[in-house]
Amino acid sequence: MIGVFDSGHGGLTVMRELVRRFPHRDFVYLGDHGHAPYGDKSHEEIVQLTQEACDKLFRMGCGLVVLACNTATAVAARTLQQGWMREVWPDKKLLGIIAPTVEAATQTPWNIKEPVFPQKFNTDTIALFATTATVESKVYGEEIHKRCPKVTLVEQPCPRLVALLESGAPHEVLELAVEGYVNALLSGLNKPPEWAILGCTHYPLLQHIFYAKLPTQTRLLNQPEVLANALEDYLERHKIAYTNPGVRYLTTGNVAEVRRIAEQFLNELVPFEALETTTPPVRAA
Ligand code: DGL
Repeated sequence: MIGVFDSGHGGLTVMRELVRRFPHRDFVYLGDHGHAPYGDKSHEEIVQLTQEACDKLFRMGCGLVVLACNTATAVAARTLQQGWMREVWPDKKLLGIIAPTVEAATQTPWNIKEPVFPQKFNTDTIALFATTATVESKVYGEEIHKRCPKVTLVEQPCPRLVALLESGAPHEVLELAVEGYVNALLSGLNKPPEWAILGCTHYPLLQHIFYAKLPTQTRLLNQPEVLANALEDYLERHKIAYTNPGVRYLTTGNVAEVRRIAEQFLNELVPFEALETTTPPVRAA
């Protein structure tokens, strides 16, 4: 079984793509709606919440957890992999969303950590729209510049977007918010970016608005597709057991409210269930 984690509804954009690409697999989706948004929380809180969520998914029998959340990946993935997981869950795996996104943006495999010349995209400008915590982590800039030092990465935090989405804000409000962030980013540039990364899994829910507000030359990098490609590659190399195909959707939030907002965005019923309170995380002996 594969666990898919996000702070709330955003990871559903990834889940939709994973179900399409891996219809025979069994997944469990965990949305931490009870604590979303993560983007304005402290580093320590994000690490703690991500650890608790991963722990629940590992306890349910997931061999792999996909962190379908840029904020959790940017802030917590490395810390958890190098500390807690080594001690408590040495046989379990974590796949974050940032490595495949950086690979796609730089056209360079993750394990190549230095520039490979000639570089097809070396003078491109890439726009990154993300949460405040992801931007402050500086992970995207560091990883992109290791591989493509001449790329200009322009980062735009969008602090209100996730809260607006999670509260089911109307279209006009979302449109105005996206327009404000796009204009803020473009005002600092003298040419349109070649690429834009919607570096928060909630934002593909607003992809049509981003497309409408960005210059026509700017192409959007599709994170759900990029992550599905990475999972395909991962599953060719690692054995993750599976039984009955399908997805179980769990939430730490209010089930009725979470279902209502999920349906509003995906135009289909997403059968969220409450995550029952489970035993506290295993501590290393
Ligand atoms: N959807 C998440 C991301 O990809 C986090 C959003 C939030 O909770 O602030 O960054």
